[in-house]
Amino acid sequence: MNTSTEATRTAPHSDDFQIEALSPVMGASIRGLDVSIPLSEKIVERLKQLLLDYKVLCFREQHLSLDAQLAFTRCWGTPLEHTMADQLAGVRNHVQIATNVGPDGKPNGKNPVATAMRWHTDRSWRPDPALATLLYGVETPRTGGETRFCNTSKAYEALSPAMKLLIDGLRVVHSVAYSRRAAGGPEATKYELHIGQPTPHPLVRRHPETGEKAIFLGSHAWMIEGMSEEDSRTIIDELMAFTTQDAFVYQHPWRRHDLVIWDNRCTLHAATPYDTAREVRITHRTVVQGEPTLQSEQA
Ligand SMILES: [Fe+2]
Repeated sequence: MNTSTEATRTAPHSDDFQIEALSPVMGASIRGLDVSIPLSEKIVERLKQLLLDYKVLCFREQHLSLDAQLAFTRCWGTPLEHTMADQLAGVRNHVQIATNVGPDGKPNGKNPVATAMRWHTDRSWRPDPALATLLYGVETPRTGGETRFCNTSKAYEALSPAMKLLIDGLRVVHSVAYSRRAAGGPEATKYELHIGQPTPHPLVRRHPETGEKAIFLGSHAWMIEGMSEEDSRTIIDELMAFTTQDAFVYQHPWRRHDLVIWDNRCTLHAATPYDTAREVRITHRTVVQGEPTLQSEQA
């Protein structure tokens, strides 16, 4: 072991990093904190509170190896394995790598998977959807390729009392087979179908840490329990249109070496297009295990 390197890697962090709101809707940027170095418990607790407060955090100017990203991910919980490896560039150490660079080193014109471009919350097709997702912009396009985030707590708060009354207590079945079909592909992988049988969630989800209520839908939301597919679709589409209106959306314009983390329990997100034939986009993604939604409702 190289002790001098070790000494540098465990150097104590200053906790006077700068926090700046990214928009009135949600989101904050953090400067002056190198997350590739092990963080003290005090700083991790502070970051966790900031994520609860802002829902989306962007750590600027990070230089992260795959292992460093995985280590930082562990500060938030248990990293999840990835399920779409065969449709992306690959997975190493629980870090999913997405790139549009071809074998010749040039942009290959391939678009992000269609399902990522629809509003969704990660792994809502599982009984225990993702708590958080971390996306590191190794290379980012000069224009386009923003990630849109929607504050679903704010959207819930803005609903009419009559609508709140109508939807409180409803359960929605989420299905990965449905969402991939509806997006026009790619089909759900065999592994996803194996671990992702259609699963119910409360339509109005109470955040297990803040207690705030939020609309829990997105592209995996398939049918409302006890309703026909047609009636379900009418209500889900109406609520999705309401939830994703500009008043509740923050669109993140990526800078190279941004590391963005979002709370999947009270946000939706969607990728946006960019010129995939000319611009390069390489991202590293990790996902943090969440808890069962129905269990937390009953708690
Ligand atoms: Fe996603």
